[in-house]
Amino acid sequence: MSYVASRLSAVKPSASMAASQAAKALRAKGVDVIDLGLGEPDFPTPRHIIDAAHFAAKAGQTLYTAAAGTAEIREAVAGKFRRENGLNYTADDIVVANGAKQIIFNALMATLEGGDEAILPAPYFVSYPEMVKLLGGTPVVIECPETTGFRLTPELLEKTITPSTKWLFLNMPGNPSGAVYSQSDLKALGAVLARHPQVLVLSDEIYEHILFDGREFVSFGKACPELKDRTLIVNGVSKSYAMTGWRVGYAAGPAPLVKAMSTIQSQSCTSVCSIAQAATVAALNGPQDEVARFRQAFEARRNLVVDGIRKINGLTLSPPEGAFYAYIGCASLIGRKTPKGVVLEDDAAVANYLLNEARVASVPGVAYGLSPYFRISTATGEEVLAEAISRINAAVAQVE
Ligand SMILES: Cc1ncc(COP(=O)(O)O)c(C=O)c1O
Repeated sequence: MSYVASRLSAVKPSASMAASQAAKALRAKGVDVIDLGLGEPDFPTPRHIIDAAHFAAKAGQTLYTAAAGTAEIREAVAGKFRRENGLNYTADDIVVANGAKQIIFNALMATLEGGDEAILPAPYFVSYPEMVKLLGGTPVVIECPETTGFRLTPELLEKTITPSTKWLFLNMPGNPSGAVYSQSDLKALGAVLARHPQVLVLSDEIYEHILFDGREFVSFGKACPELKDRTLIVNGVSKSYAMTGWRVGYAAGPAPLVKAMSTIQSQSCTSVCSIAQAATVAALNGPQDEVARFRQAFEARRNLVVDGIRKINGLTLSPPEGAFYAYIGCASLIGRKTPKGVVLEDDAAVANYLLNEARVASVPGVAYGLSPYFRISTATGEEVLAEAISRINAAVAQVE
């Protein structure tokens, strides 16, 4: 007897969660593993946000809310888009879900018909292709090499769009590459999209506050206002406010799409936790100094990792422009032998070698659609990162 529907046959579990599980399994056996697999800030959620949650719970905000989110949270999100991104949305254009992941899932469920294609510039966030497949669409991957800054170019986009293209996914700063698109990069992509009116754009801007070297964030919505009626801006509090466990994401887009997403939500999870929504209002409307402090810490860690990795013979790393990952090139290790005589055939073998020999958990580039690389998360303390780099160095030095 088969318990599982056929639509699950091609869907893989999250690679970053799998890396983390492998690290935990080794730890359970007493092995001292540094887990750089999962991407979540190691800071506590700022105090005033936690206080707002306490207050909401004590004040009786403990009931189901509107499926799209409370009036307060949708106003707070509209205010955030106005203030931080120069975008005008009303509460009707906004929907809240259990994380940006659920937002993306709902958007795809609301729109994909069998045979629809979603263009995914690689390296991409691991969940994008799996969600597309799960919901009956076809992921169409465009490899965006390091030589173009891991960014999608207008030429590649133009070549890849077909009459079946339903979505283009953009993610900036990008997970895993940290790539950021400038206003002119986005306008050039927008010019291509203007010629293909069937294509919707999903701009995942969840790392917008984690930007380095003085860069300013430009939302896709700001760069291409002419595409507003086919753009869904996705964001959330997980990364900016160290709130991964609170599970709040949000999106702004065309009202009919947002309404369909909220209908799906009303029939699946009813609403996001009322207390987490109240906490998010405090996050968005309250003081932003912790966000700035987190950003600074992430930049210092980025610098430490870039310096350390670039000194390792056999690895390469372009400085990430944002987010909290390092996407490390390992082309020159491929085909070489470990001290145990195992040939490193691909980046999955490299990540496996690093886990077993360096006792550092990372995620192989194959999970992100662009090889040979492996990703480490830099959302951990500087001492731990320095120790991880020294272990990686020692392990790489032993490859023959
Ligand atoms: C690009 C990207 N989008 C979305 C998410 C998910 O965010 P959330 O915690 O809001 O579901 C992640 C988390 O790793 C991510 O890297």
